[in-house]
Amino acid sequence: MGLKLKTKYLKRFIDLEEGHSELEKISHITEAAVKLVREKSGAGNAFLGWHDQPVAYDKEEYERIKAAAEKIKKLCSVFIVVGIGGSYLGARAAIEYAKSPLYNNFAKDTPNVYFAGNSISPSSLADILKLCEGQDVCINVISKSGTTTEPAVTFRILRKYLEDKYGEEGARERIFVTTDSHRGKLKEFSTSKGYETFVVPDDIGGRFSVLTAVGLLPIAVAGLDIDAMMRGAADAREEYLSDDLQNNAAVTYAALRNILYNRGKSLEVLVSYEPSLTMFCEWWKQLYGESEGKDGKGLFPASLICSTDLHSLGQYIQEGQRTMFETLIKFTDSQNRVEIPDDPDNIDGLNFLSHKDLHYVNTMAMTGTILAHTDGGVPNIVIELPKRDEYSFGWLVYFFELACAVSGYMLGVNPFDQPGVEAYKRNMYALLGKPGFEVEKEALEARIK
Ligand code: PA5
Repeated sequence: MGLKLKTKYLKRFIDLEEGHSELEKISHITEAAVKLVREKSGAGNAFLGWHDQPVAYDKEEYERIKAAAEKIKKLCSVFIVVGIGGSYLGARAAIEYAKSPLYNNFAKDTPNVYFAGNSISPSSLADILKLCEGQDVCINVISKSGTTTEPAVTFRILRKYLEDKYGEEGARERIFVTTDSHRGKLKEFSTSKGYETFVVPDDIGGRFSVLTAVGLLPIAVAGLDIDAMMRGAADAREEYLSDDLQNNAAVTYAALRNILYNRGKSLEVLVSYEPSLTMFCEWWKQLYGESEGKDGKGLFPASLICSTDLHSLGQYIQEGQRTMFETLIKFTDSQNRVEIPDDPDNIDGLNFLSHKDLHYVNTMAMTGTILAHTDGGVPNIVIELPKRDEYSFGWLVYFFELACAVSGYMLGVNPFDQPGVEAYKRNMYALLGKPGFEVEKEALEARIK
């Protein structure tokens, strides 16, 4: 089982006929980009650890992650994951993808999992603290740099909360830290406090880190099968290592994006007909947005959950500016069956759907929409998977990570840095009066007077 890339809805936009295919015309660029990834010889090559992570991961730490997850399940009913960007999106995406966006609302023998430190909103944190009342709480603070303001401030507040609630010793038992192996304030602090720590490998950047302790610990706490997830990623890696690049779905996806981008399609919309993929789309947006949006280049990554968003953004997609294409994630099967009952009186006129499953109706809505959008000038790439589970999540993560690296190199950028993220941080530090930013503070205050 794996992933299938379907290009039939691209044919009226891109020539894909063997012999004069546009993919063949740019194959020298595609091959060069793949070479940079495989030989680790391109820009940012110190951050290619994710490429072999599904098989080369630290086995001893992996077992420690599983043991910590079991301990956490026994210790608490509320587990708070503190992190931002790549330090939380993957875990949240996985839990919603393989379980449900309503995971926390279900009766279960695993803790509720809340995500904090991904904003600076006092209301968000206050809400989570309210949900902690009368509950046993553990936290996992995740920050590769150990210096990011949002999670650092949140951790300070939650650490005090835990120390007040359980005392210093009790809090120590309940705080788990995922950070750099040797650098940064968080590492120093955790060592001095004796917290159990997990590692974000040196050669894996935040947005590529979901298959490390960053994602695996929270995912395992939520009761997902991380072995199946790693197997999915390892099988994807194996398949995409093939030298037959024409039949390599990840490489083809990267090349197709490149062709569409060079034809003025500067916006890619990731589409799913499953609300469970809402956070997966957020993870994907960060992966592609931070990896490619630089040097004045890059596709803008957006997302659509259908059919919900067809009643908000559908009009724009159908008839607005013709600058976009869609990439649809389609599941051939659904884990749930919901049959539409027959109504002898047919009051709503829906008896043509009697005894049909909602999955069938959803699939027809999807097919109808693809045809309408392509008629409207929006190319559609379809990624097909058998079902939503841990295995396909691992596969899909690897597919998109590899395609992102290849695509970034085809675009001519370093897919592994994010220099632009520093601009807001510098201004924020200056405005907050952080020592060392006095000159910037004065200049900024003059601008906002
Ligand atoms: O992909 C990245 O590197 C970033 O998005 C980071 O994940 C994000 O900024 C959080 O950084 P850190 O884990 O250092 O707190």
